[in-house]
Amino acid sequence: MAVRQADVMVSDMASGTAETGRRLRVFSGMQPSGNVHLGNYLGAIRNWVVQQEQYDNLFCIVDLHALSVPTSPDTLRANIVNLANGMLASGINPAASILFVQSDVREHAELCWLLNSVTQFGELRRMTQFKDKSGGQETAEAVSAALFVYPVLQAADIILYDADLVPVGEDQKQHIELTRDIADRFNARYGKTFVPPQPDIKPQGARIMALDDPTKKMSKSATSPNSYIALADDADTIRRKIKRAVTDSGGEVRGAPDKPALTNLLTIYSLLSGEEIEVIEERYAGRGYGAFKQDLGEVVVQAISPIQQRRAELEADPSRTRAILADGAERAREQAQRKMTLVRERVGLGPGA
Ligand code: AMP
Ligand code: TRP
Repeated sequence: MAVRQADVMVSDMASGTAETGRRLRVFSGMQPSGNVHLGNYLGAIRNWVVQQEQYDNLFCIVDLHALSVPTSPDTLRANIVNLANGMLASGINPAASILFVQSDVREHAELCWLLNSVTQFGELRRMTQFKDKSGGQETAEAVSAALFVYPVLQAADIILYDADLVPVGEDQKQHIELTRDIADRFNARYGKTFVPPQPDIKPQGARIMALDDPTKKMSKSATSPNSYIALADDADTIRRKIKRAVTDSGGEVRGAPDKPALTNLLTIYSLLSGEEIEVIEERYAGRGYGAFKQDLGEVVVQAISPIQQRRAELEADPSRTRAILADGAERAREQAQRKMTLVRERVGLGPGA
């Protein structure tokens, strides 16, 4: 990491300002591709919410990214509204953060194309998310070209707004590092234009694991609904899923490298209750998995049910969410258009200065 010297110092991150004195800018995105789950919440959304008063924030529903795999138009449209409601219900505050839909700001797609020219084929081929999502060599032949250039669009999302920090889960680290490389290369070729961003990955919660297999991360694309807790799951479903979650051999409620299942459950308990893992371990010492899981079920239900209540209120008045997204798009567009005027000039497009 040392060679990737950040442009933003850690002390500045704490105060929320960059060296120049301006407030640090945060950008993050999420795909409208189905069930938002506890991993998304603990690894990403919750951190966005907690930090939003400290920074200038843009949170983006990345619908163009969702088109990199086959999707039906009706499903996509419904998923966009659901994700917007989920983010608002989780605490994204439109007065502190710009919440918008990626395709409402055309500059993302335009910048992606320009950045494709400074991105190497080999860099994209090495992306682990592409390797995971494209499967073996046989299926890789048939996946869309959009899935391959997906990280370039992500880079465009971020650097279009001069974002300093990108709060994401661990799985996105490689994409943010590529974004830095792309920004650096563009700057070297055309003169200082973009801010190379830094990932903001928390030590806890950045990788919540599947409930039915603690060696795999909790994922939207999982085949079994028992592997994740969706933010939309009702209380009984949550309790049942926690009860069925796999545990490690032995019977002790203790986190350790050789106890991946309990480590994961303890992490979830700790993040949602605000208690240290050691305190929780002590409480359940000698009491076995049953009591622990029962209480964990309640901890999760209590954290999620207020979000569900707010979501129901938002769903009852769709015009409100529509207005928030329209306002967000307008504010984002203003920044994006200004930046793209400079970018076009730098690469030699348009009339020139
Ligand atoms: P995705 O579900 O891939 O659209 O991811 C949206 C955001 O949630 C990204 O910041 C991811 O890094 C984060 N995320 C996804 N899955 C997990 C997980 N299992 N644990 C922690 N963060 C996650
Ligand atoms: N690739 C991210 C994911 O799978 C989503 C994303 C798109 C994103 N653009 C972004 C995240 C910009 C952070 C910043 O979760």
